Amino acid sequence: MSDETYLMSDFPQGFAHYPLYFSPAEQAELIQAVRDGVQAAPFFRPSMPRTGTPMSVVLSNFGTLGWVTDKDKGYRYEPTHPKTGAPWPAMPKRLEALWRDVTDYPDLPECCLINWYREGSKMGAHIDNDENAASAPVVSVSLGDPALFRIGGPKRGGPTQGIKLYSGDVVVMAGASRHCYHSVSKIFYGESALVPKGGRINLTLRRVMT
Ligand code: SIN
Ligand code: FE2
Repeated sequence: MSDETYLMSDFPQGFAHYPLYFSPAEQAELIQAVRDGVQAAPFFRPSMPRTGTPMSVVLSNFGTLGWVTDKDKGYRYEPTHPKTGAPWPAMPKRLEALWRDVTDYPDLPECCLINWYREGSKMGAHIDNDENAASAPVVSVSLGDPALFRIGGPKRGGPTQGIKLYSGDVVVMAGASRHCYHSVSKIFYGESALVPKGGRINLTLRRVMT
């Protein structure tokens, strides 16, 4: 058994980590796809429901449905960009191929959320909970600076396992892990030169409708 496999046994059932799934050349292609996408659908700063507290990441989306949040309407999926009103850019084919490769879910994801973590950005503990397809896996791609990803259990505040995610890594949350709290507690800012303006890009693929 490799060290990696042993480590995964401490993680919730259904959690999988594919270190360096994407080669450096493929990572550069994905970053170019993000740059092209955000020309049409610029990054915007999301706000938490009710309080209106801004999140520390900025975000955009690919696909027919994009995840958005604001003070008044909260977390939801929308077919268009909140500022431009235009449909989100198309899902890159390479990400559909990734989904087919690492999941056996029959339908393709409608949403690829693009999170950009800059210096000091974090993501608080949450469960992805806005999808009708609640049992479809969630697939996420790390690009640029490494991050400390933490995953716990189905209840907030329990013990967590940490894993440092590097550029090109892929994580799958299927099975029980799909309904576990997770967070990004730290970005190792400046360790990678992949993202032109610095930081980390996370791509999260989700199936939304059943
Ligand atoms: C998230 O769960 O929303 C983001 C995960 C990540 O950035 O790796
Ligand atoms: Fe999440």
